[in-house]
Amino acid sequence: MNPSAFDAFAPTYDADFTHTRLGQLLRQRVWRVLGQQFHAGQYVLELACGTGEDAVWLAQQGVHVTATDGSPEMVHVTAVKAEQAGVSDRVTAVTLSLQEIAGERNPYAVIRNPITDHESPITSYDGVLSNFGGLNTTNDWRPLAESLARLVKPGGKVVLVVMGPWCPWEAGWHLAHGEWGTAVRRFRPSASAHIGGSAIPIWYPSARRLRREFAPWFHHLYTESLGLWLPPSYLGHLVERWPRLFTRLNQWERHTARLTGGWGDHYILALQKM
Ligand SMILES: C[S@@+](CC[C@H](N)C(=O)[O-])C[C@H]1O[C@@H](n2cnc3c(N)ncnc32)[C@H](O)[C@@H]1O
Repeated sequence: MNPSAFDAFAPTYDADFTHTRLGQLLRQRVWRVLGQQFHAGQYVLELACGTGEDAVWLAQQGVHVTATDGSPEMVHVTAVKAEQAGVSDRVTAVTLSLQEIAGERNPYAVIRNPITDHESPITSYDGVLSNFGGLNTTNDWRPLAESLARLVKPGGKVVLVVMGPWCPWEAGWHLAHGEWGTAVRRFRPSASAHIGGSAIPIWYPSARRLRREFAPWFHHLYTESLGLWLPPSYLGHLVERWPRLFTRLNQWERHTARLTGGWGDHYILALQKM
């Protein structure tokens, strides 16, 4: 799979998702977790950073971020956004795919060490972040976890925001519209999304599955639902129409998110390097 297919999304991604009410509700929930797990002065590796919304926010909190994405256009938008926000000294934007990080090519040759500013092996990240489905574009999670284990310090945190299989909103919506295939697509071995004119394979690992793939090197801190009472992003128009209702549902979801674990459009999996 060639992640540059996502280039076509880069110019409109923020308008279509980031700046919508739903996008903001969801991202603020993720920022709450990031604020708890990552602190000023730390070094964080971000996977599939998209347009750099989280990298810039973390940098504004004093965190140094190596923001990677397989799409050169997404990386470009990230670099420009960091520059405009005045935090380019804390954001290093690099075109790098999950597959390269997982070891198909040696990631150490390409990642710039933000501590020394040299392109050399990094062994000292304080944490890793991947938000809003970056990890759904691969099903090779074990090699990725193994590579990350080499890049993260003992005690370092990993925050993964992943689309899981158990999404009642999606199943209910599509069943109600007679779209049976779409209603159950997350339970298929692999689904596909039409991105930039090509069909991109997407996988929906359960939180339990992902925990198992990371378990040799990372222990589980917690799993939270994200988008259980809130709809998936393609139904964001519902949130624009009934903002107060969905703001209340979001508050409810926030308080119960750890009880409902891996359910929802996404889940947030927090892990810690052994
Ligand atoms: C839904 S966007 C999420 C972007 C961002 N993390 C956010 O929070 O908005 C998914 C991102 O994954 C990137 N991506 C897709 N496949 C990838 C791959 N194989 N390696 C690295 N990045 C990839 C895309 O370019 C896109 O920026």
